[in-house]
Amino acid sequence: MNNLEQTLSIIKPDAVERNLDNEIKEIFRKKGFSIKKEKKIQIEKSEAEKFYKVHETKPFYNDLCAYLSSGPIVVMVLEKKNAVLENRELMGSTNPKDAAEGTIRKKYGISIDKNSIHGSDSLENAVIEIDFFFRD
Ligand code: CDP
Ligand code: MG
Repeated sequence: MNNLEQTLSIIKPDAVERNLDNEIKEIFRKKGFSIKKEKKIQIEKSEAEKFYKVHETKPFYNDLCAYLSSGPIVVMVLEKKNAVLENRELMGSTNPKDAAEGTIRKKYGISIDKNSIHGSDSLENAVIEIDFFFRD
């Protein structure tokens, strides 16, 4: 099973606030992801700024970091074969309006900023993001 990958998933404040975390976790399990680690936390804005540093020049950066730190989130390490790409597919497009049927963002996303879920976009970033939340 050496094709197994791990990726980082975050259930964002809009979804946790609507108590959708268990429902979303069940979707991942049904699609064959195992949830290797998980924790419900609230982060400081300064931590969100570090996490989203790649977006620091974008016009939405400040609002994005304020938002991610605005309430509890559920952070998970998901494991599956091709987990990074399969998770991105299951999440759907960044803007829920463009997300395909059957994706998490289509089902639960409210808007481009309140789009319910984060997922690592590459294996390289998955390693960095998992370490960010779960290094010990
Ligand atoms: O999350 P994803 O990788 O699909 O998108 P991204 O381009 O890495 O952007 C990170 C997050 O910033 C998105 O999930 C959105 O919540 C937010 N965003 C936004 O608020 N406005 C935009 N125009 C683009 C992204
Ligand atoms: Mg991204």
